[in-house]
Amino acid sequence: MSLIKFLDIKTLGDERGHLIALENDKNIPFAVKRVYYLTDTQPCVPRGFHAHKELTQVAVCVSGRCLMKMDDGSSKEEVWLDAPDKAIVIGKMIWHEMHEFSADCVLLVLASDFYDEQDYIRNYDAFLELIKHA
Ligand code: TYD
Repeated sequence: MSLIKFLDIKTLGDERGHLIALENDKNIPFAVKRVYYLTDTQPCVPRGFHAHKELTQVAVCVSGRCLMKMDDGSSKEEVWLDAPDKAIVIGKMIWHEMHEFSADCVLLVLASDFYDEQDYIRNYDAFLELIKHA
């Protein structure tokens, strides 16, 4: 089964422009408790490099693009987030990294819970150990 899970998102709108609506427990598979976004990122400065013990997130580039790399401890996949209707789920215990941000990138993230540093696994070897004993 692929690590990359796209959401089923419809682009609405007309000649005035596009509109995309995201709704709790409808096209977003959880109730959103937190929204954050990355701006002013650098093409040569990747981010992420962690997994979450419990948190589920949805990530979408509402502008520009970046390369999302995902790893469940046994397989690795990557996907370009390069369209505002190309939203993916970052499930719990998925090591993820964002690379090659375009200059105009705005990466929007919806999260199933509030920020909690205790939920982060920031060491890759520790992540592999936890996966092994899960
Ligand atoms: P981090 O999640 O490490 O960023 P990235 O995965 O994009 O590289 O977060 C960077 C810093 O911001 C870190 O000190 C934690 C803080 N932070 C918050 O305070 N609240 C949040 O909702 C998030 C996502 C991060």
